[in-house]
Amino acid sequence: MSLFKRYLEEVQGSAPKKDAPVLTEARKSQEFWEIETSLHNYLLEELKKYPGQDKEKEKRKIVELADAFFEQEGTRLTFEEKQEIIDYVTNELLAYGPITSLLQNPLISEVMVNHFDEVYYEQEGKISKSHIHFVDNQHVMRVIERIVSPIGRRIDESSPMVDARLPDGSRVNAIIPPLALKGPSLTIRKFSETPFTIKDLIGFGTLDQTMAEFLEICVKSRLNVFISGGTGSGKTSTLNVLSSFIPNKERIVTIEDAAELKLNQEHIVGLESRPPNIEGKGEITIRDLVRNALRMRPDRIVVGEVRGAEALDMLQAMNTGHDGGLSTGHANSPRDILSRIETMVLMAGYELPVKAIREQIANAIDLIVHQARMKDGTRKITHITEVLNLEGDTIVLQDLFVFKEQGYTEDGKIIGNFVSTGIRPRFTEQLEMNGYSLPATWFYGGW
Ligand SMILES: Nc1ncnc2c1ncn2[C@@H]1O[C@H](COP(=O)(O)OP(=O)(O)OP(=O)(O)O)[C@@H](O)[C@H]1O
Ligand SMILES: [Mg+2]
Repeated sequence: MSLFKRYLEEVQGSAPKKDAPVLTEARKSQEFWEIETSLHNYLLEELKKYPGQDKEKEKRKIVELADAFFEQEGTRLTFEEKQEIIDYVTNELLAYGPITSLLQNPLISEVMVNHFDEVYYEQEGKISKSHIHFVDNQHVMRVIERIVSPIGRRIDESSPMVDARLPDGSRVNAIIPPLALKGPSLTIRKFSETPFTIKDLIGFGTLDQTMAEFLEICVKSRLNVFISGGTGSGKTSTLNVLSSFIPNKERIVTIEDAAELKLNQEHIVGLESRPPNIEGKGEITIRDLVRNALRMRPDRIVVGEVRGAEALDMLQAMNTGHDGGLSTGHANSPRDILSRIETMVLMAGYELPVKAIREQIANAIDLIVHQARMKDGTRKITHITEVLNLEGDTIVLQDLFVFKEQGYTEDGKIIGNFVSTGIRPRFTEQLEMNGYSLPATWFYGGW
């Protein structure tokens, strides 16, 4: 019996279904899948003989073994078809299966697997459905396991969701049944190896030169800045850019759920929270880390995202001399982030009067930078807003710079410009004390 037939028999039942994923002409054929399956299983067995090799060696070994396999089988495949099978199997064995090509494409920033035959991706801000499919739910599960197991996380019915990172720093979230109704689901946010700089953001049209210089001065003068925005609006990327303005001599403690920030300063301690273990024990929250950070003699605390009770500790820290804090929060407008923070403070479980909380917020936060993902996929800082004081029950806000939208071009690109509202911030004095003056031209206003 030929190798090919033997392996095919051995894998009976695990062979891909007839309506296997369609990607290319070759992959439309049942034969492609039969050979792919038997080669796959053959390699799984053979590679056991060569444990502990690095990836490059393993890749070469796969090609070598596959050549031998094809020779022995005498398949009718063309050179290109064989190559395609080898690539496919290599991705299955060493990378992330069918979505490997999306992950390797530098133009793609996000990959979303809703279901084994429904894969979406974001390219240049636009979300599209891809023609890539997994074979079935188990196939998605295998890829999820490949991602989470090297970093010591596990995913199964008892812990059906997990946050993880790929070796290149991409952020991964996986969630499986019973929580995910359609089957295992995977979301991967890629990060460019080199983080965005302020020049990149200006180049993308996220803000203009004046706003950039203004924000730089604000960060250097140790204002407490909150970046708000919707999901995927670019908050973390902007936080990274603003944090890069922190002078090199300052000691920075960063606190995140999954470390995404990439800072270049020298004096930096990065902290990451920890989910509970299988017995539900050992959880370390962002709040625990914020409290711990205060004992680490930080010049700056940068919190990746505020979601819960840590808001209270942060406000208290900002109000007790730990200024220059930077963080982000999920919200639809600068005003919205204030009410969200208020709710988060209440999550700490103290029965604080609302007015007292608002006073804390107004005293602690100096500036809100609100960012949004526009209809054309671009990200814009739509507001730079100063937080003033409490008047009655209301925190007074004043916009300093805004994005004035004027419509869309025929091909769907947004038209508009960044303008000053003509208002000089009240914290001008604080900036001046730090040796910065704000040119009058910045505030001529086009509002
Ligand atoms: N200014 C920008 N212009 C264009 N694309 C951007 C910009 N900032 C970020 N992106 C891209 O948008 C995606 C989301 O970015 P980021 O993670 O910073 O957003 P976020 O608001 O923190 O998202 P989340 O709410 O999921 O935490 C990334 O793929 C990133 O490359
Ligand atoms: Mg983020």
